[in-house]
Amino acid sequence: MQTVSVALGPSADRTYAVRIGPALLETVGAAVREVLPKVTHIALITDRTVDRIYGDRVAAALTAAGLPVHRAVVRPGEPSKSVRQADQLWGELIAAGADRRWAVVALGGGVIGDLAGFVAATLLRGLPLVQVPTTLLAQVDSSVGGKVGVNHKLGKNLIGAFHQPRLVLADTDTLATLPRREITAGLGEVVKYGFIGDRPFLDDLSATLPELRSQPDSARWPQIVAHSVRAKAAVVQADEHETGVRATLNFGHTVGHALEAVTRYKRFKHGEAVLIGMRAALDLSCGTGHLPETERDRGFELLDRLPVGPTVADLSLDETLAATGHDKKAEGGQARFVLLDGALGQATLPTAVDPDLVRDALRRLGLR
Ligand code: NAD
Ligand code: GLY
Repeated sequence: MQTVSVALGPSADRTYAVRIGPALLETVGAAVREVLPKVTHIALITDRTVDRIYGDRVAAALTAAGLPVHRAVVRPGEPSKSVRQADQLWGELIAAGADRRWAVVALGGGVIGDLAGFVAATLLRGLPLVQVPTTLLAQVDSSVGGKVGVNHKLGKNLIGAFHQPRLVLADTDTLATLPRREITAGLGEVVKYGFIGDRPFLDDLSATLPELRSQPDSARWPQIVAHSVRAKAAVVQADEHETGVRATLNFGHTVGHALEAVTRYKRFKHGEAVLIGMRAALDLSCGTGHLPETERDRGFELLDRLPVGPTVADLSLDETLAATGHDKKAEGGQARFVLLDGALGQATLPTAVDPDLVRDALRRLGLR
């Protein structure tokens, strides 16, 4: 097992561990007891698919550690990240007798982590949260850093909070049951770390992407997840509340979020939308004079190894352009983009870009 510490000020209390490796699900009961000794009950929030594969094992590990479990199971998929679903969970947990001695365990992908984290942040003005991520995307990104929330019909993640977990347990064995499409989507967030700050990591990954896509049981996952989590932890430690450098984690997300919004969060996996969005961001980095064409093309080649199934060809360019203005980084309705600066591995803070250039970049993605 590898442990990455997320050190948050000002009190050491807020520092937490991300444990990464195989066979960690069975340790969840003892681990929760260790970090949250006063907790008496667990709200285990998961989705139906994850529950079917891992729910009993996790519930048994918690119960064996003397922690009674209320299991709340929601529908898999992005539409569950809604105020309506959160409201249903608030009601269910209040009816089950939740009080301040309860903790929330989020077992699943980023949808569950964000939704259950939002419920934990808001119920009884905040319950402790433990993240047990089971997708690659959630292990490398969403379970770490404390962003929790739900979507609004006008945009992605517009309702939410910062609520750091007290512990993250990333059991890399769970990746073995992930469909290839989810692995590709997760790899989108992995390569993002390379694009924004780690050229050697990008070069290392580049040759192995096809193999990783086809091997959800690859022995390389613990190392890849740990490397990604270290990258995320460094950024979160430097700027927990996104007043500066944390915004670079949104590379590819301005167009990515817009594509998700115009397709009502149904067509693309989040990581797929980010993969397409990174292509647009590379294009804009070059178009604004920040990035040489050779570097842009090197970035495109890498993204070619992570093909996205769903098409953008039928999407309205005007609607998508307008949706970029609802992104959280937008100011006064004008979209801002994290761009690459000089070379792959170096990013700018969000930067306003001429809408005509954005229009051209969307057209090159295939939108009309
Ligand atoms: P997801 O949670 O929808 O999971 C994808 C699918 O995989 C689901 O159908 C799920 O049931 C299934 N699944 C999960 N684990 C499995 C396993 N081990 N085996 C088999 N099936 C499994 O999607 P995701 O890609 O994990 O997360 C996407 C969400 O994360 C988006 O809503 C995005 O906005 C959010 N996100 C949040 C942050 C953050 O910092 N909070 C960062 C990145 C993304
Ligand atoms: N996934 C972006 C962030 O955590 O800031």
